[in-house]
Amino acid sequence: MLTPMDVLAINDLFVSAQGKEILKGLNLKLHKGEIHVLMGPNGSGKSSLAATLMGHPTYQVTSGCIRYKGRYITRLSPDERAKLGIFLAFQNPLEIPGVTLSNFLRTAYNATHKDRVSIPEFKKRLHTIALKLKLEDSFLNRYLNDGFSGGEKKKAEALQLLVLEPKLVILDETDSGLDVDALKKVAKAISDYVSEECTILVITHYQRILKYLEPDYVHIMSDGQIVRSGGKEIISLIDEQGYEGVYG
Ligand SMILES: Nc1ncnc2c1ncn2[C@@H]1O[C@H](COP(=O)(O)OP(=O)(O)OP(=O)(O)O)[C@@H](O)[C@H]1O
Ligand SMILES: [Mg+2]
Repeated sequence: MLTPMDVLAINDLFVSAQGKEILKGLNLKLHKGEIHVLMGPNGSGKSSLAATLMGHPTYQVTSGCIRYKGRYITRLSPDERAKLGIFLAFQNPLEIPGVTLSNFLRTAYNATHKDRVSIPEFKKRLHTIALKLKLEDSFLNRYLNDGFSGGEKKKAEALQLLVLEPKLVILDETDSGLDVDALKKVAKAISDYVSEECTILVITHYQRILKYLEPDYVHIMSDGQIVRSGGKEIISLIDEQGYEGVYG
């Protein structure tokens, strides 16, 4: 039987930041079109893994490797990774006063896509996507994340995702801080975007987003390693037994 090509293959990955070893031999494989969920207690290394995948310079790979669509990306810059179609929605997005959301998105789009869209055409696209997320057009003219509420920051990230159309999406606690209605809109917009071509890694502490983004696989992380992988039945086990009850 043909196996789908690995979109992401992480092999025996060790990562340190500021002299502290955070990831300690992590292995993970994601295939095309799959939705994976990564859960685990605070401080287990989930956000560090996300930052490492994006190439954040603070996180140094001391051993092991990361392959994206068969290509070693361990030494590529964040910019090069974004061009390859990797997208990370941060747990705590940066504020950039002076750069409007709309301008930021157009620059990011042009930096990651070969085709150039005209400004009116881009604005039209942006308007359609903003409408889906129930964001007012005036929101697009505000400075990126500057004074955004927690929920607005998450919506702005969902907007980025839908505009940039990445192939590998890493969502780091996109659900936290969203009220129930906003969560529904954001999750629905993301799940509409998910296709055979797009692979998603969702990092979350909560079940609620998983009502809308149905996972194929669930992984539990503890102390820098994946300690258990399985289907979505693991999530209800966590609810019943806590993380310690489900460590493999
Ligand atoms: N830049 C850094 N410098 C030093 N230590 C760091 C750095 N980034 C993360 N760590 C440490 O690595 C460990 C893992 O942190 P990380 O943020 O990856 O956890 P997490 O699983 O995302 O937790 P949470 O569920 O609370 O978001 C923590 O002990 C944290 O203090
Ligand atoms: Mg985190």
